[in-house]
Amino acid sequence: MPNQSTNNEVNAIILAAGQGTRMNSSVSKVLHEVGNKTLIQHVIDAAMPLASFINVIIGHNSESVKKSTQSNLIKWVLQKNQLGTGHAVMQAIPNIKKDSMCLILYGDVPLIQTQTLLKLLEKANKTGFSLLTVIANDPSGYGRIIRDSSKSIQSIIEHKDANTEELEIDEVNTGIMAITGALLTKYLNQLEPNNSQGELYLTDIVEKAVKDNVNIASFICENATEVMGINDKNNLAKAERAYQLKIADELMKDGLTIKDPSRFDCRGNLIFGNDCIIDVNVVFEGEVQLGKNVLISPNCIIKNSKIGDNANIMPNSIIEDSVIGSHANIGPFARIRPETKIGNHAKIGNFVEVKKSTIGDNSKVSHLSYIGDSQVGKSANIGAGVITCNYDGVNKSQTTIGDGAFIGSNSQLIAPVSIGKNATIGAGSTITQNAPDDKLTLSRHKQSTISKWKRPQKK
Ligand code: UD1
Ligand code: CA
Repeated sequence: MPNQSTNNEVNAIILAAGQGTRMNSSVSKVLHEVGNKTLIQHVIDAAMPLASFINVIIGHNSESVKKSTQSNLIKWVLQKNQLGTGHAVMQAIPNIKKDSMCLILYGDVPLIQTQTLLKLLEKANKTGFSLLTVIANDPSGYGRIIRDSSKSIQSIIEHKDANTEELEIDEVNTGIMAITGALLTKYLNQLEPNNSQGELYLTDIVEKAVKDNVNIASFICENATEVMGINDKNNLAKAERAYQLKIADELMKDGLTIKDPSRFDCRGNLIFGNDCIIDVNVVFEGEVQLGKNVLISPNCIIKNSKIGDNANIMPNSIIEDSVIGSHANIGPFARIRPETKIGNHAKIGNFVEVKKSTIGDNSKVSHLSYIGDSQVGKSANIGAGVITCNYDGVNKSQTTIGDGAFIGSNSQLIAPVSIGKNATIGAGSTITQNAPDDKLTLSRHKQSTISKWKRPQKK
């Protein structure tokens, strides 16, 4: 068959030069994010397993789009003036071999799946040209698919150019197509800007190919969210939720208990052992690893962290770039800041902030404390309101607390300072010098009562 691609090379072309006026944003449309990943990166990731290289057509904010991603497979193609989707694809033609298969994708259709693209390519391998369409609940804004009485595709009419009868059609163009380099080049050359927007529409190549007796294969994407276009913030929010529901669905299939998938957000990768439970409104960011039987209570944010078996993360806790030991108890209202390591069976209680510190196994910091730049040994007990004063206004200094130490409530440890093993610090002490092992150290003034003192009187 003359229209078949004769080599197995797939060249992806991703359109991303438009401004995205409807986003009302100074950020390029394709740099908006779904699941903390840019729209353009979603599309690149979907195409990557199939393509020998990926042409990304850039224009508006081209430098920031270029900087946002890196891959040897990407060829950046500049479309100086945005004269339409057809014009955008034309810019990539010098990179396209005639006997290759071109996979055209839109930078603002981010949820497309590799599996769907594979099916589209299989169809195009038979006829030379295949289109991905979808039945839209609300077809408004999309190009309508015009079929003849035998259901063969005749053309695509853009919403803005459609008459009332055509506007009734609910089968729409996803924008995604596969076509041989030869056919693509041929019909792009025939495009004319005679439409309401005065643009060169890529969609017009369909009518040209039909006139040329090319049989256009098509298939209807079953999942409409997979091909939703992001044109405004409303679409962006819908895409985010659709994406999150899909991730939640996959994680639940793998055995994660999610109390309410509609209140679950994973903006990165989550790995977990058996019997983990995620309560409502938990946000995971970056790379997070949970051991077995971990409970994450409501309203927690967990970012780039590793949490050990049987750990219990209580409500409203924030954990970032840290490692939490097995059987540890964190929160409620705890904040674990970067470079912290919490030991096994350790406890970090309410309103406790820990930064760049190690808390040994079985140690407890139960209430209202700040522990920063500190090394706390095993089985230490840090009383309510203890503060490591790690900052003199210029430099950060270290605090060391030995195994078994007991720090009385409301004490300040002025770093650099070291508290010995099994040392006890009397409550309310301000410790400026090292405290020895096994001894009671306190620095507060001896309590006294002034017998002649009277409360001041109003004059
Ligand atoms: C386009 C399709 C429409 C389809 C819809 C699916 C055309 C003419 N219309 O409409 O049939 O239903 O997508 O989402 O193709 N772009 C460029 N250069 C340009 C113009 C656009 O790179 O000169 C890029 C945009 O950045 C965007 C993509 O092409 O990523 C689509 O452009 P957009 O203006 O959003 O097209 P739609 O009106 O959504
Ligand atoms: Ca669009």
